[in-house]
Amino acid sequence: MKPPFFPLPSGRAALVPSVLAADFTCLKHSLAPVRKLADWVQVDVMDGHFVPNLSFGPGIVPGVAAASGLPVDAHLMVEEPGRFIDAFAAAGAGLITVHAEARGAGACVKKVKALGLKAGLALRPKTPLSKVLPYLQVLDLILIMTVEPGFGGQAFMPEMMPKVKAARNLITGSGRGIWLQVDGGINALTAGTAALSGADSFVIGSALFSAGNPAAFLRGLKKKL
Ligand code: DX5
Repeated sequence: MKPPFFPLPSGRAALVPSVLAADFTCLKHSLAPVRKLADWVQVDVMDGHFVPNLSFGPGIVPGVAAASGLPVDAHLMVEEPGRFIDAFAAAGAGLITVHAEARGAGACVKKVKALGLKAGLALRPKTPLSKVLPYLQVLDLILIMTVEPGFGGQAFMPEMMPKVKAARNLITGSGRGIWLQVDGGINALTAGTAALSGADSFVIGSALFSAGNPAAFLRGLKKKL
């Protein structure tokens, strides 16, 4: 089966709505404004163990892909990501991100790549950037969490910016096209801060879906970044 399309870094900022903050009672309506303005959509998967919250499984991926018309990025905030990779791949995720702190993270990165998908590695705020070093030649995305994972609507952690800057230097030095993604408390102001530190993929939940006009919010952010 041909893996789904997923965009490569292009020097332009990628805007990534996080479904966690969308209106689940009508995803079609909630995601309609992002159809032409976002680059892909993120599904925040939580197991109630790795993070103290429970969200959704692979079953949501086809609906999110159809409602948004965009590639889907599955951010697995789960203790044993290896148990779920096949299911998210089969559901149509184009990129799967596992946490460096999760069980078998390295094997999971390799498995995602073996399935022909793009692979991401996420770091909690306290996890050192050095955890990505063994995978720098295979990763397609590095996610620097700018909140403690588990809930939307938290405050952005500006103290993560040195880590973002260091990650940007690592990526530049690797000579590879690797997305540098930030996730948590991203809004028009903090996205600018993170962009100045080198981020080029911005996961946005509450700020987007609580905006009076989400399409206008995304257009403004595109202009700014
Ligand atoms: C944290 C989640 C959130 C979500 C975005 O576990 O991953 O970061 O995607 O949340 P906002 O944009 O509402 O902070």
